[in-house]
Amino acid sequence: MDRLRIVGGERLQGAVAISGAKNAALPQIAAALLSPHPLELNNLPAVTDVDNMLGVIRLHGAEVSKGPGAVVIDASAALSKETSYETVRKMRATVLVLGPLLARFGHARVSLPGGCAIGARPIDMHLKALAAFGADIDVEGGLIVAEAPNGLTGARIVLSSPSVGATETAIMAATTAKGETEILNAAREPEVADLAVCLNAMGARIEGAGTHRILVEGTTAWRPATHYTIPDRVEAGTYAIAAAITGGELELTNARLEHLASVVQALEAAGVGIWPGDRGLIVSRSAPLAPVDITTEPYPGFPTDLQAQFIALMCCANGASLVRETVFENRFMHVPELMRLGADITLQGTTALVRGGRKLHGAQVMATDLRASVSLVLAALVADGETIVNRVYHLDRGYEGLDRKLHMCGANIERLGE
Ligand code: EPZ
Repeated sequence: MDRLRIVGGERLQGAVAISGAKNAALPQIAAALLSPHPLELNNLPAVTDVDNMLGVIRLHGAEVSKGPGAVVIDASAALSKETSYETVRKMRATVLVLGPLLARFGHARVSLPGGCAIGARPIDMHLKALAAFGADIDVEGGLIVAEAPNGLTGARIVLSSPSVGATETAIMAATTAKGETEILNAAREPEVADLAVCLNAMGARIEGAGTHRILVEGTTAWRPATHYTIPDRVEAGTYAIAAAITGGELELTNARLEHLASVVQALEAAGVGIWPGDRGLIVSRSAPLAPVDITTEPYPGFPTDLQAQFIALMCCANGASLVRETVFENRFMHVPELMRLGADITLQGTTALVRGGRKLHGAQVMATDLRASVSLVLAALVADGETIVNRVYHLDRGYEGLDRKLHMCGANIERLGE
């Protein structure tokens, strides 16, 4: 298993190209199963989660061909086969094939994902939404068995909370349901809106994605389509924090300011400068870091996927800050590892009290999940001496060429093999 060796102390300078968004790409790849016509996806990030999702739809008989910068998916010969626990266990987002398979073929058998490092992560809202379309949903021996022999029928769906995945499942199922579907309390994440743009290009009729109320008119008029996936706001936020934590200046090309409002607000409060540049965003810090309290929330609130990175930043602030996690119940796995680097953090339930200002020093640390592992990399960029981050396969799941991109901006970082 690869490891990263990082020697802290370099101020980052230069430009970083932000890749396509992993969390937009995964549902778009699943959505390809809805249509008998080819879908060309451009700007997919080169990360292992994307490869895994392409592998999942191949299992269902879709043909996938990769060209420079684009992937063409032809699901004309796809079938609804059982999606095993082995497949789903590798990547929870695999459950996003459930809606498209049921919507197109009238039946689907997908293993329940089970929990993960950051929480129990049930999918009750996904299943409730599919049942509202008239499908029979059973869970037998860890397997979801969904049946709708006469197809799905449009429905009014009120989500108990704005779940990203449940909103995406409901939208994809609604695309072929007879009549109109109304989804209320929908997630407003840019990735949800981008899924709707992709589906509409494929022939769907979706309105209101990106708001709490989404309307979908069922259709069978699919057509060949091409879509360009939005840039990754979480990757952009991560590099913004890399510039801030090292007291450097980075240009984040392709990054979109409008997707990062709450993040920019928190960083500016900490004394970081962020402004639009010709090709994206410029992020710079020279003043001392001020402590800032944040609470994670569904979009447009502060993203939970940047919570760990923000805690690493607050370890370097002049004073104490409170970081509250409200989306996932167990998303502080990075805290004990940051404390190995000398951070002073106290956890109380869903809140972390971060006492900044202590000098960090290099050590061996262990990655546990995608965002926790990148927070360790950020802290190592400013720690005295050498840090070894183990199990970086977690990073490769969602960051394209992280060590290469950081190295190009001056970081003393290298990937070590076994
Ligand atoms: C998506 O996960 C992202 N993953 C996550 O990113 C992200 O953290 C999350 O949204 C929140 O923004 C992808 O898009 C592939 P949710 P998802 O459904 O869809 C509870 C990363 O690091 N819930 O909005 O699984 C759930 O347990 C990953 O890139 C139910 O209770 O998130 C959680 O507490 C990690 N029942 C909360 O809602 C359900 O049926 C939000 O989950 C569904 C969700």
